[in-house]
Formats: sequence, structure tokens, C-alpha cells
Amino acid sequence: MKKLEQLYEGKAKKVFKTDDPNLYIVDYKDDATAFNGLKKGTIEGKGVINNRVSNHLMKMLEKNGIPTHLVEEISERETIVKKVTIIPLEVIVRNIAAGSLAKRLGMEEGTKLGHTVLEFCYKDDALGDPLVNEYHIYALGAATKEELDLIADYAFKINQLLSDYLKDLNIELIDYKIEFGKTPDGTIILADEISPDTCRFWDSVTGEKLDKDRFRRDLGNVEGAYHEIMKRLLGE
Ligand code: TMP
Repeated sequence: MKKLEQLYEGKAKKVFKTDDPNLYIVDYKDDATAFNGLKKGTIEGKGVINNRVSNHLMKMLEKNGIPTHLVEEISERETIVKKVTIIPLEVIVRNIAAGSLAKRLGMEEGTKLGHTVLEFCYKDDALGDPLVNEYHIYALGAATKEELDLIADYAFKINQLLSDYLKDLNIELIDYKIEFGKTPDGTIILADEISPDTCRFWDSVTGEKLDKDRFRRDLGNVEGAYHEIMKRLLGE
């Protein structure tokens, strides 16, 4: 497998072509941004942790029937993934009120939601990733009804699998954001990453935040929180 030219550089990862037309290599960076890139920083070692944590969780999901982009971890920061076209939606699942939902609905952070909440944001940096509903998504042509139904089904299944898995490690899954992609043959699979950058993880006992909110909100010990997640998931 040869790493060829860079295709794309995002806020947290770079994507490279390979000599296999169906495979890409993602390379995780230590760069961190928040608030649509307004806040910038570095979280030392984050790229390594997110690469390993995301692959670990995707492997668990694959084993339980969720198709993912994961092919093979090839270095501390690099993973071979299936080539997909990203569906331009941030799919957000929430179990406990936090972040933008707590603000928008006037709920105290930490309040258990009476029902799991599924939200979609349209991925467009210039617009600040606006919240959209299914009708906006059809109108935009971002996904068809069949595709969105499948995505919602996967999102809820992933919620159950992740929540149960993390509970045993004394981690409460508050909410998370996932993205899906379409392979050249049109199959929808889980793509992007699942990491402390894209989830809210709270210690089940102490309530301590073990995710990127420590960076977003200047809570300190950001690296420590990322390491703690890797230690609980991978034992190191
Ligand atoms: P929010 O409460 O700020 O809307 O975030 C919901 C979840 O989505 C939270 O787990 C963090 C994650 N998230 C991302 O992964 N990327 C983003 O750009 C944003 C705003 C949130």
C-alpha cells in the first residue's frame, strides 16, 4: 500500500490517496479547533489517541453488525479506510442534555432526556453547520428518505452498543456526533471518527468531563482526559 498525494486537510485529520483506488489513508493531527475554527490550539498526543480510540470503537461496532470505513491501522496516527464520499450531515445523538441542546432548550446540563434525541446538522463551514430537519435534508439533496432512515437506524443502534460498552468502563455517553459515507457502489457506512473530539464522555462516578469540552471551555487537564479515555478503552 503506497501513500500518494494528499486529497484533503480538515481541522483534525488529513486524507491521502493510495495506489488502491478504493482505499484512502487518514492521518490524525494534534490540532484542535472549536466554535467553527474560532478557537485554535494543540492537544499533545491527541492524533495518536483519537486514531487508536476510534479504531477500537469501530472494531467493536463492526463486530456487532455496523458497517464502518475501517480497514487497518498502519501506524500510531494513520489508518487505511475505505474510500467514501462523505454525506454532508453531522448526525448527533443525545442521551443527556448538554452543550448546544441544553442552551437551546433551556435545560440544565446533565438532565436525563425523556427520550433519545437525534439531530442533524448540515456540514457547511461557511454557514456554521446549521441544524436541519429531514425535510431540509431532502430539499438540499443531502440524502434520500431511504438513506436517512438507514442512517437513523444505524445511529440508534450505535448509541445502544456504545453506551453499553462504555458503561462497563465507568464512562457515561452523554452525546456524540458521527458521519456516514457512501462507497463507490452506493453502500452507506460509518466514516470519520468516534473519539473524545466527537463525543461527550463523563466519568460515571465523579461526573468529570473526559472529552474535548475540557479544551472548548478551558477546563484544564485536556491531555489527561484524552489519556484517561485511551487507558480505559485500550488498557494503556
Ligand atoms: P453540541 O452540544 O455542541 O451541539 O455538540 C453535540 C456533540 O457533537 C458533542 O458530543 C460534540 C460533538 N461535536 C462535534 O463532534 N463536532 C462539532 O463541530 C460540534 C459542534 C459538536
